[in-house]
Amino acid sequence: MVVLKTGRELSIMKEACRISAGALQVIRDAVEPGITTAELDRIAEKYILSQGAVPNFKNYQGYPATACISVNNEVIHGIPSEKRKLVSGDIVSVDLGAVFNGYHGDNAATFAVGDISDEAKRLIDTTRESLYEAIRMACPGNRIGDIGYAVQKYVEDRGYSVVRQFVGHGIGTHLHEAPEVPNFGTPGRGIRLLPGMTLAIEPMINIGKGDVKIMPDGWTVLTKDGSLSAHFEHTVAMTPDGPQIMTVV
Ligand code: MF3
Ligand code: CO
Repeated sequence: MVVLKTGRELSIMKEACRISAGALQVIRDAVEPGITTAELDRIAEKYILSQGAVPNFKNYQGYPATACISVNNEVIHGIPSEKRKLVSGDIVSVDLGAVFNGYHGDNAATFAVGDISDEAKRLIDTTRESLYEAIRMACPGNRIGDIGYAVQKYVEDRGYSVVRQFVGHGIGTHLHEAPEVPNFGTPGRGIRLLPGMTLAIEPMINIGKGDVKIMPDGWTVLTKDGSLSAHFEHTVAMTPDGPQIMTVV
C-alpha cells in the first residue's frame, strides 16, 4: 500500500532528510586517500547521533553499520571495514540515512578519491545526471514507469547499463515502503504519482553489463563483469508544484 504523507509528516521527514544529507556531506569532506571505510562510517554515525537522529541502516535486517560504502566494482551494500583503505583513483559510493521522530531519510552519492580516470568521472557525472532526469519526472500525474524510463534512456544512450536487480522505493515511517521504483521502465506505465508520495530514487549504473553478484558476506553487491559502478540517491516528495528534493542540507 502506498502511504501519502500530510504536510505535518513531510515537515518531520524533511528534518530526517536534512540530517541524512548532512551526514553524506561530512563523508564527502572526509574522503581522501588513506582513510578506511570504517573511519568514514564512524564519522557519519557520530554526525547523525549529534543531530538527535539514529542511523536507520544499522541493524536493518542485520546490517552491521551506519553507511553502505562500496568501492569501484562494488555496486551497493559494501560493509565498512578497518581493512579497506581508499587509494587515489578509487571511486566510492556512500549510501546512508537517518530516522528522526519516526520518519526516514535516505540518500547516496559516489565520490572520487584523489585523481580518478576520465572514464570514472564520466560514469559518476552520468549517474548523477540520470538521477536528476528521473526527479524531473517525479510529478503528480506521471507514473512510476516515467521515472524508470528517464534513467534508462539517459544512461543507455551513453553506453552504460542499469542495475535491474535492485530498485528505489517508497519511504516514510519505514525505510522501505511501496511502491518499488525501478531504474528502467515504460513511459505511462505503473502506478500514478500523487501529491504526498515520498520516493527514494536511486539509479545504480555500471560501465559494463548490468548483471550483479553478491559476495560471500551476504551483503556486498558487485558487478559481475568487474566494471565500475556508481550510485546516487535522493529522497523526493511529490507536491502539487512538482518534485521536491528533501535530502538537502
Ligand atoms: N540504502 C539502501 C536503500 O536505499 C538500503 C540499505 S540496506 C541496509 O534501499 F541494510 F543496508 F540498510
Ligand atoms: Co534507498
